[in-house]
Amino acid sequence: MKSKSTALLATAFLILSSIHAQSTADNSPRTRLLLDADWKFFKGELAGDRLIPAGTAIVNWKWLPDDNGPNDAKKMAAPDVDTSKGGWKDTKTGEDVFKGRKGFAWYRTTLPAFKGKGPVIHFERIDDSGTIYLNGKLVDSHSGWSEAFDVDLRSAWNSNGPNLLAVLVENTDGEGGITRLAQIQDGLAEAKAAPISPMFSDKSWRSVHLPDDFIVRNTFSSAADASHGSLPVNTGWYRKTFDLPATYKGKSLWIDFDGVYRDSMVWLNGHFLGKHASGYTSFRYHIAKFANFGGKNVLAVHVDPTHFEGWWYEGGGIYRHVWLNVAEPVHSTPWGTFVTSAMTEPVPGKRVEPATITASAEIANDGDNPASVSASFKFLDDAGRTVGETSGQISIPAHNVKKAWKQVIVKEPRLWSLESPHLYRLVTTLREGSRFIDRTETPFGIRTIRYDKNTGFYLNGKSVKIQGTCNHQDFIGVGIGVSDQLEEWRVKKLKEMGSNAWRMSHNPPTPSVLDACDRLGMLVMDENRHLGDSKGNLDEVASMVLRDRNHPSIVMWSMCNEQSEAGSAAGGKTFKAMRETVLWLDTTRPVSSAMNSGWFGNGFTNVTDLMGVNYNIEVYDQFHKQHPNIPMYASETASTVTTRGEYADNKEIVAVSSYNMTDETWRSVATRPFMAGSFVWTGFDYKGEPSPYGWPSVNSHFGIMDMCGFPKDNYFYYQAWWKTQPMVHLMPHWNWPGKEGHDIKVIAFSNADKVELFLNGQSLGANSMPKFGHLEWTVKYTPGVLVAKAFDSNGKLIASDTVVTTGVPAAIRLKTDRKVLVNDAEDVVVVDAEVVDSAGHVVPYADNSVTFRITGVGEIAGVGNGNPGDHDPDVASTRHAYHGLCAAVIRSGVKPGRIHLTASGIGLKAASMDLDVTAAK
Ligand code: GAL
Repeated sequence: MKSKSTALLATAFLILSSIHAQSTADNSPRTRLLLDADWKFFKGELAGDRLIPAGTAIVNWKWLPDDNGPNDAKKMAAPDVDTSKGGWKDTKTGEDVFKGRKGFAWYRTTLPAFKGKGPVIHFERIDDSGTIYLNGKLVDSHSGWSEAFDVDLRSAWNSNGPNLLAVLVENTDGEGGITRLAQIQDGLAEAKAAPISPMFSDKSWRSVHLPDDFIVRNTFSSAADASHGSLPVNTGWYRKTFDLPATYKGKSLWIDFDGVYRDSMVWLNGHFLGKHASGYTSFRYHIAKFANFGGKNVLAVHVDPTHFEGWWYEGGGIYRHVWLNVAEPVHSTPWGTFVTSAMTEPVPGKRVEPATITASAEIANDGDNPASVSASFKFLDDAGRTVGETSGQISIPAHNVKKAWKQVIVKEPRLWSLESPHLYRLVTTLREGSRFIDRTETPFGIRTIRYDKNTGFYLNGKSVKIQGTCNHQDFIGVGIGVSDQLEEWRVKKLKEMGSNAWRMSHNPPTPSVLDACDRLGMLVMDENRHLGDSKGNLDEVASMVLRDRNHPSIVMWSMCNEQSEAGSAAGGKTFKAMRETVLWLDTTRPVSSAMNSGWFGNGFTNVTDLMGVNYNIEVYDQFHKQHPNIPMYASETASTVTTRGEYADNKEIVAVSSYNMTDETWRSVATRPFMAGSFVWTGFDYKGEPSPYGWPSVNSHFGIMDMCGFPKDNYFYYQAWWKTQPMVHLMPHWNWPGKEGHDIKVIAFSNADKVELFLNGQSLGANSMPKFGHLEWTVKYTPGVLVAKAFDSNGKLIASDTVVTTGVPAAIRLKTDRKVLVNDAEDVVVVDAEVVDSAGHVVPYADNSVTFRITGVGEIAGVGNGNPGDHDPDVASTRHAYHGLCAAVIRSGVKPGRIHLTASGIGLKAASMDLDVTAAK
């Protein structure tokens, strides 16, 4: 096993690069450009699902072995070679002429007459590589034995004929030659051309800006997979045309895809770059070989989300960022930089000891000559002050990678914590003689973490109970195409509730949510999607760890969720291989997983650093007793289903009662010091997994907040026990016409000592709040005002909440947390629309249709209302309110200026709001 993972990781080091390493200095020789703008999208397949357009097959060739290879090109590719003598033999496309021989061979043929406008030769396979000459002129070359590619012949085409094609084929192993279809086809005939061809016209395709989820634009259907949100899935094509300056020739270029759901295939200028199955890991392609410098380049991406990876809404499309990276041939490899800190664990209240910071960087030399560079590491604090600096000389042979590493001591480290998430930056620069050749920045944090088997989790020596939620990726309006700003908004929403941790269930997330957790102070359980010790699965684990290991927010690696192998000896072996893969790349965090019943104590348990228990409250004590040395936490709890604003189960309207309480799940963790904390399933509702009803329900009911981020009553239970600020919240609403005189159960969530309930000014009694619980009263319904007053142990009023019987819907009120956006065409704000009565109270039964309109420099990305049974489209500008609320996601455009938003509904006073779009820095 060891040698397997060693080989895998060595490859990973050679081929992977860093998302974190970003250039900011204007004079830096390194650039990282966002490629999110101006994509074209086509839903489905073209021309009868054919990837290979119609054309004339080239069948007959003459061939000759010639181990002088490219040195003979002038002679062998010339138009006038006489192939009737000199050993040339006949062969046909599809034949293996090498028969195990390694070396070169020339192929020649005269192309047939061609009537179209853009002659292209399409090769399904040249094994291993081919250099293509037309009429004596070099037109293209391709290496990669298994990939189809297109060659544009226009630059050397002789329209009066003849057209003499010469191909130099190199074979390095196994069979070799032009072993699959070769054909001449018209690259300019739109109906026939394949989207991978640079000449294909995508004018009629939809314009999109990334991040993009094309599945969310589909229409709900009972025939579609319910666990995936009842939205039909289909394949799609993306294309992007962009220029590359001539000055980039000779540099190293690669394109980073932060995430494509899923099974993507990517071509540049007709050349196949690769296939990436996972919809959750990031990947990259080096493109210098196929790039057109000083001209147009076309990226084509085929996306196939029709085979799922999970059991929730997974969407489809290029739903995370795409980046173009340009560096000198000698550069720090992306994902190759790693910063760790070592220090004595701080003692609360005492001075923080100095920290030893170790920085290492993989430095690649893509050039043909050996290089010797000076590598410098500079450490900056969050105010930009230098706190350490070190450098050294390093030699890197041609086409090789070497690791540079150095240590510095930071005397008075400013620690990354939940309250003050200080971030440092490592600036890595490379110089060759006096030439400045590379600069990258890597954010990192200095902090200590520890899991105690008896007393739980410690951050910087301070005991912290993990108050986490699990979350999937999607949001109203945009599906999985969640922008950086929306990720930040979600982290803030969770923090407002008192949550301090996010479990990335069940997959590596978009990098921007990790950045937000770093910036805002939120712990992260980063999770791998698939269990397994096959090379592919270990590659996925390695890719997650390499990409994410500099994030101070990440405090544990999870190998998988609820895999039944977890309890078997074979599962234990698999977990061991995965754990070793992680430790190869990062030894600073424990390796864990999320396990469910029946599997505890066996398999994974024998190897794991940390025991993650999903549900099964009853095993906490028993497991701890039997395995007293394994620290524990609850990797998933609750799965409590409630529907916002509903107070009775009702299958007809897919409603689940808000009286479903979660006290027991949190109490079980909160009262056990050995439980490091828990992750509630889930923070937000998500599309799919429409438990308990299935269709016509199209989203889950598990969230503490609904699909729009509107709090359900349950939210206030967590807020009461996860935050220290005094609060009280009353449920239900107080509009129960026809129920006058009937008993209504009234609940108060609070962290106060006592809560007293009043109806229309009359006290209904004061009760002591049970720790980690809530209070209940049975109240005979009379319309009016219900008030909860919360008191501390001295009898001082510290919080109150009021619920009133409202009047009829009268007006719309708009609310948002942010009114300034940047003009990156990705920034979004969530604007809530509340349907209120004439006194400004949200009307709990209001379901009015609300229409959003905007003028100015933005667009309405989509809408939502949190109703699990609503089949109105997300990508729209009208939505019914659900229990008085709905929301719109408003997106900036590329121009700075103002967005004027109005929300109107029949019989309601309209509301408006201005948002400013400012120029991005
Ligand atoms: C868990 C599972 C989650 C989700 C949840 C619903 O067992 O890990 O992904 O399906 O159940 O209750």
